[in-house]
Amino acid sequence: MYKDLLTLRDINAAELEELFALTTYFKQNRGKVGCTDLKGKSIGLIFAKSSTRTRVSFEVGVHELGGNPLYLDSTKMQLGRGETVSDTANVLSRYLHGIVIRTFSQADIEELARVATIPVINALTDDYHPCQILADLFTIKEYSKTLDVKCVFVGDGASNIANSLMLGAKLTGMKMVIASPKEYAPSAAILKECAPYVEWCEDPAEAIKGANYVYTDVWVSMGFEEERAKRLATLAPYQVNKALMALAAKDVKFLHCLPAHRGEEVSADVMDDSNMSIVFDEAENRLHVQKAVMSMIFRNLAK
Ligand code: CP
Repeated sequence: MYKDLLTLRDINAAELEELFALTTYFKQNRGKVGCTDLKGKSIGLIFAKSSTRTRVSFEVGVHELGGNPLYLDSTKMQLGRGETVSDTANVLSRYLHGIVIRTFSQADIEELARVATIPVINALTDDYHPCQILADLFTIKEYSKTLDVKCVFVGDGASNIANSLMLGAKLTGMKMVIASPKEYAPSAAILKECAPYVEWCEDPAEAIKGANYVYTDVWVSMGFEEERAKRLATLAPYQVNKALMALAAKDVKFLHCLPAHRGEEVSADVMDDSNMSIVFDEAENRLHVQKAVMSMIFRNLAK
């Protein structure tokens, strides 16, 4: 992870270890010590989609590292009126020190990073959500003290979360099973890339056997609203509920990147079970891990 974080392919195992050590340091020392890795730096946060966690955790994170976060609603930028990604990258590189971007097309952020002379961090595209999965892996390690665990993702296996979780399994050696219907099967190319760490299984009851962590996400992601009725019908047998969780390992934990839709992808009694659900620890860790990502990138560039 030198300049950009566009997918989890941009980070190796040694860097992940360093990242998690820094994340732990930031989490344990929040508010106690000053960290000035972003002192005097302005970071543009470009959002083309809604966000609660990502926007707030990045704004607070940049501020806590001594920098200046600028929230940029892409619909109010010329980018939203047809200015090219390349021209935007050239111009913003002359004002800013870094860009965090949430948008639709992964190709667009790859173009942005190719042209920009400043770091670009992917804050979610239709294809990948690397910052989320770094926080998820950190959360699993906090709970289990190891990533030698079985994590089962239940739901849309072709989603940005599933894609990034598969890359996370490859990065860490974590055993991962994606339980999804054929219509939302994981990408064959990513499955091949992440073998032997990731398997695909159509039957959620079979997939979840022995799972230490069960993860799901909304069935209708941003940008897929027109498919809502079809997705709800096809994915209904994949709801994470108490009956399904009873088939997992003892002390299984529930993960969700949030926002959650109780009664759709997860039942309320799983989502709100304080022994089982660790979703708010997971959400909190977005802040700590993203501070570590930004610190590592700017420390690398300063070397
Ligand atoms: N998990 C996640 O990215 O949340 P937001 O959409 O609220 O940023």
